[in-house]
Amino acid sequence: MLTIDIVTIHPGLFQGVFGHSILKRAIASDCVKIRLINLRDYATDKHRSVDDYQYGGGAGMVMMIEPLVRCLEDLQKDRNYDEIIFLTPDGTLFNQHEANSLSLKENLLLICGHYKGVDERFRQHYVTREISIGNYVLSGGEPAAVILCDAVIRLLPGVLNDETSALSDSFQDDLLSAPVYTRPAVFRGFAVPPVLLSGHEEKIAQWRHEQALERTRLRRPDLLK
Ligand code: ADE
Repeated sequence: MLTIDIVTIHPGLFQGVFGHSILKRAIASDCVKIRLINLRDYATDKHRSVDDYQYGGGAGMVMMIEPLVRCLEDLQKDRNYDEIIFLTPDGTLFNQHEANSLSLKENLLLICGHYKGVDERFRQHYVTREISIGNYVLSGGEPAAVILCDAVIRLLPGVLNDETSALSDSFQDDLLSAPVYTRPAVFRGFAVPPVLLSGHEEKIAQWRHEQALERTRLRRPDLLK
């Protein structure tokens, strides 16, 4: 079973997301175990501080190395992490391949950054992977952690009802998905492509592949390189 530990100063942010839909079911059916760890529990002062001014001056606070290492070393007493992942806009861009690869691990630790960033010594000496979910800056790593968890958890065996459905997702073969339709066959004159009503499996599969290729060519030519 995959376990994901998440270090955050806002554990409450995760409650809603993990309490609904596919992620809730995945947790309830023991496909994944998620633990939320409040970094402030590892602060040493009475204000439970986890950040401080940056050396050299400049605006913005920096997350201190001490609470992070105390927290990590405490967690490592009962977990041997495959990856210690720091979510940060200057990490490598997250994609489906990365999600596939992380879904095969057993113990992941996600660390959500805040403020101006994290003391570089923590990144250099403790973090094993730095991941960004996109070329934009969030106010904290939590939404990025949620997205990473969602992309990974839905790939775990038993999470999706139809085991094949994750395999036919967009990006699994570096192609976007073909368009999909459901009833009615005609809505206000807008008809479903006739091939889908033909019952001819081979032709349908071929049509879907062509559509996926065409859509990828038009929208994401970078994926076809
Ligand atoms: N924290 C802030 N912005 C982020 C991003 N784009 N990806 C991952 N973590 C982040």
